[in-house]
Amino acid sequence: MIATSTRAVVFSLLFCPFGFANGGDTRPENVTTATDEALAGNIEAGEARYKKTCVNCHGAAGKGVASYPKVSGKEIPYTTSMLETYRNGIKVGPNSSLMIMMAKPLTDQEIADLAAYLQVATP
Ligand code: HEC
Repeated sequence: MIATSTRAVVFSLLFCPFGFANGGDTRPENVTTATDEALAGNIEAGEARYKKTCVNCHGAAGKGVASYPKVSGKEIPYTTSMLETYRNGIKVGPNSSLMIMMAKPLTDQEIADLAAYLQVATP
């Protein structure tokens, strides 16, 4: 049995729209794509976007609240990949439907901004 967190990573690697499931090389360090590099995340814009909706579940600066996971302090490629996975409607955990609903309207730029903000966010 694979642990849920491992499955989340495997799912995001397999179903990434930019196709980095390349010949079985699924090392997370290799998730940088041309699109990721083109989109520089803006920390201030990310913070503003975070405060619109995300804060209601994930708490101040992404520190997590009860069953809502901590989302700050993670590497940019990880957060980007998770948000793209949810935006694609792919379930990775028991409560993914909540996140899929939240991620659907996000643009590539918003995801880049959110990932940049969440990497450095501190309460
Ligand atoms: C309605 C509550 C809710 C809102 C609002 C919400 N989330 Fe989530 N989020 C969740 C839940 C619940 C999960 C775990 C989902 C699962 O089981 O797959 C999650 C998971 C995540 C994850 C993956 C965490 C991990 O390491 O597995 C990220 C990143 C994330 N949310 C970011 C955001 C961002 C950015 C926003 C704002 C656009 C947001 N969330 C808005 C409830 C919410």
